[in-house]
Amino acid sequence: MVEYQTILEEIHESLKNVENTGEVASYIPELANVSKDKFGIHLQLITGENFAVGDASEKFSIQSISKVLSLVKAFQLIGNDLWERVDVEPSGNPFNHLSLLELENGIPRNPLINSGAIVIADVLLSHLKNPKEDFLNFVRELTHDESIHYNEKIAESERVTGFNNYAAANLLKAYGNLNNKVEDVLDFYFHQCSIMMDCRQLTNAFFVFANKGKCIKEVQHLTPSQVKRINAIMLTCGFYDEAGEFAFEVGLPGKSGVGGGIVALLPHCYTIATWAPALNPKGNSYLGMQALEQFTTKTKLSIF
Ligand code: DON
Repeated sequence: MVEYQTILEEIHESLKNVENTGEVASYIPELANVSKDKFGIHLQLITGENFAVGDASEKFSIQSISKVLSLVKAFQLIGNDLWERVDVEPSGNPFNHLSLLELENGIPRNPLINSGAIVIADVLLSHLKNPKEDFLNFVRELTHDESIHYNEKIAESERVTGFNNYAAANLLKAYGNLNNKVEDVLDFYFHQCSIMMDCRQLTNAFFVFANKGKCIKEVQHLTPSQVKRINAIMLTCGFYDEAGEFAFEVGLPGKSGVGGGIVALLPHCYTIATWAPALNPKGNSYLGMQALEQFTTKTKLSIF
């Protein structure tokens, strides 16, 4: 019997006092208001048992973690046609890198870099009746939690500073890989990134990837084959130019966000989320990566 609570407490204790050299993201000004000292972990087993430590029930902006949820919705809506507009190769580059997009004629390397997520947002805009409302309801449904909302201040803060994403969207439009207006697609994208969730809610939302496509209430949202594909994308692309390092240190499919969250999972076993807002130079949570490395090492529960 693994002593999960004891392990989480040991990890929290060992990391909360280390010198945290990471920096809270400030290129979206509103994100810079969060304290660097926040640190929480939530673990949910496939059996439904839950364990938590630290600031695990405080909400934060999920940012790029939302890209996995929008991918799920788009995959549900148009199936494998998706792969004609976005590839499934790791980029080996930062999340907001642009030159590959031009070299590869407007086909983003994968759906988890910004340009790929912008194409996914375009798909959702074309197929959902009330895109922002419908997407939020979908996230609530997946999580079984009505208390999930967009953060309008964060969405607006990103809109006024999002020049790089405007560049990506304009490039996609120039290559014919965006069907809706740049402004509309980015309005959706900035909102999806602004969604506020806590670590527990993230472990609920990502439960489908550990449970062959069924959510915590056993509703089938994805086929097992779709789950296999999304988990593969998370493993190879979920941490941008640090995806290799995350696989090497942690050994789980997962996704990070510049709000300091990371969610990861072991198929058929558990989902785990960490939140520590200070980021390493590659834009991933400095303490979150270390916490997850310790977790899979101590429990010996990784995909490898
Ligand atoms: O588009 C952006 O730059 C942000 N809304 C999301 C970036 C992000 O979270 C990258 N992940 N580590």
